[in-house]
Amino acid sequence: MAREYFVQVAYLLASGLFILGLKGMGSAETARRGMFLAEAGMLLAVIGTLLQAEILRYEWILVGLAVGSAVGVAISLRVPMTAMPQRIAASHAFGALAATLVGLAEFLGSQGHGEVIAHPKMAALGFEVMFGSLTVTGSIMAFGKLQEILPSAPITYRGQNATNIALFLATVGLYVYLIVVPDAAWAFYAMIGLGLAIGILIVLPIGGADMPVVISLLNSYAGLASSATGFAIGNNVLIIAGALDGASGFILSILMSRAMNRSFTNVLFGAFGSAPAAAALKGGAALPVREVTIEDAAVQLAFARRVIVVPGYGLAVAQAQHQVRELAQQVERQGGEVLYAIHPVAGRMPGHMNVLLAEANVPYDALRDMDEVNPDFPECDVSLVVGANDVVNPAARTDQASPIFGMPILDVDKSKSIIVMKRSMNPGFAGIENALFYDPKTAMLFGYAKSSLSKLVAHMKGL
Ligand code: TAP
Repeated sequence: MAREYFVQVAYLLASGLFILGLKGMGSAETARRGMFLAEAGMLLAVIGTLLQAEILRYEWILVGLAVGSAVGVAISLRVPMTAMPQRIAASHAFGALAATLVGLAEFLGSQGHGEVIAHPKMAALGFEVMFGSLTVTGSIMAFGKLQEILPSAPITYRGQNATNIALFLATVGLYVYLIVVPDAAWAFYAMIGLGLAIGILIVLPIGGADMPVVISLLNSYAGLASSATGFAIGNNVLIIAGALDGASGFILSILMSRAMNRSFTNVLFGAFGSAPAAAALKGGAALPVREVTIEDAAVQLAFARRVIVVPGYGLAVAQAQHQVRELAQQVERQGGEVLYAIHPVAGRMPGHMNVLLAEANVPYDALRDMDEVNPDFPECDVSLVVGANDVVNPAARTDQASPIFGMPILDVDKSKSIIVMKRSMNPGFAGIENALFYDPKTAMLFGYAKSSLSKLVAHMKGL
């Protein structure tokens, strides 16, 4: 009795810590503390679960714990920040597999004992297995596309959406049938089979670049499956943590779609990126671009009063966050002020730029969200665009034919002058030309962001 009491108190505390953790992760300043709180919650939840009276032997649990921890530590040490989206996809596949296997074990256990699962329990169990199985294969597909093991371009065919919807309805039909006839083993296995197939089929037409949205949606499904597992096996912390996971994943997918000015259905069914990539600029390659040397750029930055650094995906690829910080400190030493403009979908995952800059100890109060910083651009002497492209493309404001038309952007083109650091004239994620590069106020500083930034700092010091 005392043990059961302790378990429930541990679960209650863990749930509270999860909620506080999520709240903390809402801002860069408190995110680290939020993460620690959530970790402490998870530790309590695991301890509570290990003390459950139903556990008779610990050998296999300990083996699982050791193997899981070893794999987790190895992954966290080896996976680079740029591969974080696919790492998260892999974690969702494992989480959903666990939920599906728990559901399967419950079903097999009751069949083995000749028991018929009660209708309400079957409702939870069926939901868990249906969403769990489609999340397993969906997440593996997302992982494959992001890791480029699978072709990352959308794969489409005639009648694709209709087929997917028909299969999904058939799966839901089997689920409803199972609630009515809970011992229909054929329906249970057919539902798992269809769930696994749907996971593959719904991700096929989505381009690799839209995978972060898909991943957070799958995160939401995995959360719902875990919550249903909690109902099926009577575990309160799973119900609460799963619901939090489900809701936060869903909200995040909507926020990401909104920040790209795409509807949720466009991301899921629009096969973005399969059409011949958008419009080259009128006049195209014939337009001249102005290049700047390291020496000239260093002089410009050294004499600038207000500099806004605009980081993008290229900063993450180059891992140049420390060099950016050094450059900002050098500008400040020479009397200038530096802000960092953070676009909500810069990079390839939510908060990508915040994480990178925090790693380099950039002060939080120098970071500005898009809406906050946009009015500052007209007063800015130099905007330094480091590996950003789509998030500063004025076509989003002006070109109705552009696939990113309507996406809110950073108003870099309104600055007094602009230095763009990238390696070539290659496009970014959306695959389109950027008129900013041809703006007479823009100077292109070609090269790898990390080495260009180091050279800039060295030259500024010598001035
Ligand atoms: P992008 O538009 O993808 O552009 C990144 C630029 O970085 C490229 O043009 C590339 O040009 C440059 N680059 C790459 N490696 C570099 C290096 N080592 N040194 C210097 N430059 C380098 O990035 P963005 O402006 O951050 O926009 C993000 C895009 O991703 C948006 O279209 C957004 O909708 C999409 N997206 C974001 C998310 C989230 S949640 N963040 C999710 C899904 C999709 P070069 O090759 O010429 O160097």
